[in-house]
Amino acid sequence: MTTMSHIELDEQARAILKGNDRGMYTVPTAGLYPYQWNWDSAFAAWGFATFDIDRAWTEIQTLLSAQWPSGMIPHILFHQPDPGYFPGPEVWGANHGPIPSSGISQPPVAAPFVRAIWEASPDQHLAKLRAAFPKLVAWHRWFMEWRCHEGMIFITHPWEAGRDNAPDWDLAMQAITPEGVGEYTRRDTSHVDPSMRPTKEDYDRYIWLVQRGRRLDWDEATMAVDPPFRVADPTMTFILLRANRDLAVMGKALGEDTSEIDAWIEQLENGTRRLKNPERNIFDAIELNSGTRSGNLSNASYLCWYAGIDDPDMLASFDHACAIADYPIASHDPEAANFDACRYWRGPTWAIMNSLIGVGLEGMGHTDRAEQLRHRTASLITEHGFAEYFDPFTGAPAGGGTFTWTAAVWLAWASPSSRRDD
Ligand code: SER
Repeated sequence: MTTMSHIELDEQARAILKGNDRGMYTVPTAGLYPYQWNWDSAFAAWGFATFDIDRAWTEIQTLLSAQWPSGMIPHILFHQPDPGYFPGPEVWGANHGPIPSSGISQPPVAAPFVRAIWEASPDQHLAKLRAAFPKLVAWHRWFMEWRCHEGMIFITHPWEAGRDNAPDWDLAMQAITPEGVGEYTRRDTSHVDPSMRPTKEDYDRYIWLVQRGRRLDWDEATMAVDPPFRVADPTMTFILLRANRDLAVMGKALGEDTSEIDAWIEQLENGTRRLKNPERNIFDAIELNSGTRSGNLSNASYLCWYAGIDDPDMLASFDHACAIADYPIASHDPEAANFDACRYWRGPTWAIMNSLIGVGLEGMGHTDRAEQLRHRTASLITEHGFAEYFDPFTGAPAGGGTFTWTAAVWLAWASPSSRRDD
């Protein structure tokens, strides 16, 4: 087998984005994920921006158009019925927005990508930025109002963090007895090997939480009473902090008053200090109902630099993560007893997380480490294709194939063509 050149891979990546393009939005991959997912879509926009800036803006506009009156932007937008996915809109019963959707959100990477897309041609797209800005502010305000505890952003469902079956939620998941969840048919395991997906025990709880939300009509105030699942999450906290910093920059460019955003930044900076585990010297998740730390090192732990938080302990940990696996960064510590190299967020490497970690490292001046991660991610994709995720030791592709966000990350960050100096 001959290795493909990066020019050929660029072409392949563009073909994947075009193939998953449904006109106004992009699906993560046909079959397994047939709708628009929130953070997948923001990554797609980043990828489109490398060859079709107007299409990039359309992706963002479609995502923002799904905003609920509360400001929340849902994690799945069910534009067209598709029997190949479970749970669909009839299970969620979340009818508060203009587009049928789920009732929870997802990591707000949209603002950083909007900034990147806008900065590619700032004068040309000022009107689009002006239209997007208040929607992003309202969405971030919703996070600060409904998902913030002492400056840490928590999730109310594992799907909200985007890291569905990460060990970070194990404690909170074990505390749930999924009584009355009833019979249902999963569709994910008909598309992908079940050993690469969450277990039935996980799914029973995912669905039980959806049923609870539906019963309470997805009303945040009601759902916040005796919440069965509430975990402070490094993914959300670091990403929202970064997103607020970028939002403030865009607000200032538009001549807006950014004092509210500046106050959020301060709050979240304080929250990140609470997320630091003083015994393990890592950033980890906290189960808020009991105040118990997960003690888990995940790829989200390394998003600190993306949030503008420098941390020498995490630099040392990063070096170790790169020393023990050929294709870092594993989603869960390979030295932990419950590491599983191919089960979704319990071990595999995700190119999207690597891109955020790399952008963060570069932004904080850790250029050599940023380059190392970029090169290793480029090798991973070059050798093993545009998979959803990968085995950190062998690089074996796992989950869905021809994946939108892996293609997008290739075009915008990993490919040598993304750098003028390569
Ligand atoms: N990632 C979830 C799924 O696998 C939903 O966001 O369906």
